Amino acid sequence: MASQLPDGLAMPLNGALPSTVGVGALGKTMSAYVHIPFCRVRCGYCDFNTYTATELRGVSRASYVEELKKEIALSIDVLQRADVSLRPLHTVFFGGGTPTLLPVSDLADALQALRDSHGIEPEAEITVEANPDTLTAEYVDGLVRAGFTRVSVGMQSAVPHVLSALDRTHNPAAVDQAVSTIHSAGLEASIDLIYGAPGESLADWRRSLEQAISLNTGHISAYALIVEDGTALARKIGSGAMDAPDDDLQAEMYELADELLSKAGFQWYEISNWAKSQQQHSQHNLAYWNNQDWWGYGPGAHSAIGGTRFWNVKHPAAYAGRLAEAHSPALSYETPDQQAVTLEQVLLGSRLAAGIPTQGHDPQAISTLIAWGLIDGKRAIEGRIELTLSGRLRADEVVRELLFRSQD
Ligand SMILES: C[S@@+](CC[C@H](N)C(=O)[O-])C[C@H]1O[C@@H](n2cnc3c(N)ncnc32)[C@H](O)[C@@H]1O
Ligand code: SF4
Repeated sequence: MASQLPDGLAMPLNGALPSTVGVGALGKTMSAYVHIPFCRVRCGYCDFNTYTATELRGVSRASYVEELKKEIALSIDVLQRADVSLRPLHTVFFGGGTPTLLPVSDLADALQALRDSHGIEPEAEITVEANPDTLTAEYVDGLVRAGFTRVSVGMQSAVPHVLSALDRTHNPAAVDQAVSTIHSAGLEASIDLIYGAPGESLADWRRSLEQAISLNTGHISAYALIVEDGTALARKIGSGAMDAPDDDLQAEMYELADELLSKAGFQWYEISNWAKSQQQHSQHNLAYWNNQDWWGYGPGAHSAIGGTRFWNVKHPAAYAGRLAEAHSPALSYETPDQQAVTLEQVLLGSRLAAGIPTQGHDPQAISTLIAWGLIDGKRAIEGRIELTLSGRLRADEVVRELLFRSQD
């Protein structure tokens, strides 16, 4: 959740959704994202909507779960007033920020409030993001008791100088410890890695990948470092104190990731995500990518219900203030038209290994992409647009070609 909020129409104070959402929600699964906007320190590359203790303007972390519970109650009221049938949650994701900075009893409380209001499917994937140095065996036991099924661990790198370039505070050994604690408790673990940090060599990246693979998780995400405007990293690069990521090196790093992960039994299912089996794909992210419904709880969180998108006020103080007045924390909303929805489906769907149908796209564009080696020719004949390895490295070009020449 990057920190910039889009424009949109002002949301009424009671949070009422347009009358179209009831029909728009039919046939879609429902998920919940719970944003925990707190971090001990801010990593230099990160522009997520998160706050250190000194940036909180008097908001207390201790009362945060009570605010979340108010928004959960309000969401049920808003959905019922809009004639959206309540559906048990298909997935739940507690993300941040650093969710594990809160006592585990707070996470359990918020999850229970979701269970008591929406209901949760019996086999639902329930994930929490964790920074490696925040997890103890006792904490993980609390997650199990609360009903979490999966922990996504922010490893980022195994190499001390890379972690330090990213301002990460954990010791690399903390990741092994965290993952073995998660596995001993019977939960699934997923690993997040970043590549292309200033000063990171291909050999450093190989070391991180090998270390991540040795942890024996079923899921690994690897993200190219993005230099976000306004971050400490952007300032250091701007002043010449650090080097900007090199596109060619990042492409080599991606290829190395795919090679080592494939050899270790992982398969890519989205450009930045690999899993050992289909059961281990992130069901929550798939819900986003496949345009299902979700309610995002917490400051700055985005929601998508029945074709309408809306997003909350950004600062935790503004969020708490709205809820204290029994107002919706939603700031604005928009209902994208069919053209915008199609565009988004091409953008997101083409990044998936499952691809998108060729139908509706210019055969000339498809032939060009096959000739450039960016999509799989055999699969295109069978009616699917699926990226090749080169296509994954040049996904933006594929999307441009498809949309630029699109027939509709
Ligand atoms: C925002 S963090 C939240 C979870 C946890 N606080 C952590 O840092 O692991 C989620 C993931 O986003 C990714 N991320 C954040 N900022 C990024 C950036 N500028 N470039 C690439 N990946 C980024 C990192 O891999 C991180 O694990
Ligand atoms: S710990 Fe995670 S959310 Fe917090 S600043 Fe670092 S990357 Fe961002």
